Amino acid sequence: MTLAVGLMSGTSCDGVSAALADFQGRRVRLLAYRTDPYPSSLRDRLRAATELKTPELARLNMALGERFAASALRVLRRRAAVHRITVIGSHGHTVYHGPADPIPTTLQLGEPAVIAQRTGLPVVADFRMRDMAAGGEGAPLIPAFDQAVFGDGPPRALHNIGGIANVTLVGRGIAPVAFDTGPGNCLLDALARRLTHGRHAYDPQGRLAAGGRVDQALLRALRSHPYFRTPPPKSTGPELFQERWLDERAGRVWRRRLPDTLATLTYLTAWTIADSYRRFLPVQPREVIVSGGGALNRTLMGHLRALLRPTPVVSIRRYGWPPQAKEPVAFAWLALRAIRRRVNHLPATTGAREACILGAITPGGIR
Ligand SMILES: Nc1ncnc2c1ncn2[C@@H]1O[C@H](COP(=O)(O)OP(=O)(O)O)[C@@H](O)[C@H]1O
Ligand SMILES: [Mg+2]
Repeated sequence: MTLAVGLMSGTSCDGVSAALADFQGRRVRLLAYRTDPYPSSLRDRLRAATELKTPELARLNMALGERFAASALRVLRRRAAVHRITVIGSHGHTVYHGPADPIPTTLQLGEPAVIAQRTGLPVVADFRMRDMAAGGEGAPLIPAFDQAVFGDGPPRALHNIGGIANVTLVGRGIAPVAFDTGPGNCLLDALARRLTHGRHAYDPQGRLAAGGRVDQALLRALRSHPYFRTPPPKSTGPELFQERWLDERAGRVWRRRLPDTLATLTYLTAWTIADSYRRFLPVQPREVIVSGGGALNRTLMGHLRALLRPTPVVSIRRYGWPPQAKEPVAFAWLALRAIRRRVNHLPATTGAREACILGAITPGGIR
């Protein structure tokens, strides 16, 4: 039995997702999972983090460290004694990602020293930096996990629909292919907040989208974004697909027809996924396994099933994991590899010049 905890906070800024899992070779058993939502004030600060001054960023780093530590301790509660845990893998929260900058850089906050101090456990964090130091984009990191756990089977697409949506194609004899397909939940969340005057942080189960009609003219305007035609490797962020993009493409009318706009964007998200498979995957998957909070959006899942038919599209729940557990489990696995001094990325998918061991290790307490 090798137990590890993983912590993740993604571009949706919804909260800290934490998982406790047992790793035995390729086999992973999820023992506990939780997402601790952020209060709306913290969400707003995270969404505006690129505008923060250095002292505010430094404080945010510590505040997030406390939140990650609290989530780690909560996911452990009742499930496993702390002394049986080998390591915590913490992705942190990305406040800046600039792989194409003159000096490529990335910044994840959530101070690992705080997590190590509160839990007494070793923490591996800052995974993206090492990949960048080796000439990589610092992303995507999950494909190494996808390949290890799902790679020994038929061709399968692992699609994570978080704030941004990304895919990894794996299968026996296939070199993994991974890229961001485009928008995920970020813009859907913004529209749901606008439509409900802030009462809902997201479109629950996709019900709001189901109440609108897909606007074909708007859909055409949005589909023509060059990102969707750009071949991989490629990655994107929430900066590209936000309300300003709608203004640019469609003027301001979309604001007066919010249910239809939400319906259109939900459809667009599914369309970009299906379209990218046809354009860019070397083989079509036999199954699509959807993870991330987007798997809970029934309208989105319905569109995906219709667009990819006859390929089965299933939530990762089918494999026993709540949709938002997959990414924290992956970071627990990456951390285990790091402390065992084993390669934990696929340089071919990040563009790194050589394989390396990602992650900065903070020792645990003195036992
Ligand atoms: N019950 C639900 N119905 C519809 N969407 C949901 C539901 N629960 C979560 N989500 C969506 O999932 C998002 C969070 O997904 P997550 O995988 O954590 O993304 P990230 O990694 O970007 O934080 C929320 O912002 C929301 O859009
Ligand atoms: Mg999240």
